[in-house]
Amino acid sequence: MKQLIKLTVNGAEEEVLVEPWWDLAYVLRERLGLTGTKVGCNTGECGACTVLVDGKPVNSCLFLAVKASGKAVLTIEGLQSANRELHPLQEAFIEHFAVQCGYCTPGMIMAAKALLDENRSPTEEEIKEWLKGNLCRCTGYTKIVEAVLAASTQMRGVGK
Ligand code: FES
Ligand code: FES
Repeated sequence: MKQLIKLTVNGAEEEVLVEPWWDLAYVLRERLGLTGTKVGCNTGECGACTVLVDGKPVNSCLFLAVKASGKAVLTIEGLQSANRELHPLQEAFIEHFAVQCGYCTPGMIMAAKALLDENRSPTEEEIKEWLKGNLCRCTGYTKIVEAVLAASTQMRGVGK
């Protein structure tokens, strides 16, 4: 039987009627129209579906929507500032050519955001370790790591 969940998504309060087995990625994409969150494997392997729930990165393809009730969800659509400026991570991914097909990018950026929220000065090794659950078939990862390092530098500089 469906149940009503209340959650905050990108700062907006939402109420959604969900089946108990629906995952958060499905609700975000198919019920709330937030298709920035991608679904690659749907089995928790690729990280394409990464969003933040109460600030922590989760694979939303495995995270039951009912578990998100009462929580704050942040997706790639919620990352830009109120005046619609791109987040430093988004800018850095563009500037450092860390996007090719782009399918991994929203999940990669959300995972990287969680890292930079915890650690504004990660080393290259720490970035690689943190992002090891986010798979990219295109870039070879080097540009992604460069982009995260650049964003961390910028975020320290401007204090965002
Ligand atoms: S789609 Fe969720 S981990 Fe791959
Ligand atoms: S840019 Fe294509 S999967 Fe990462």
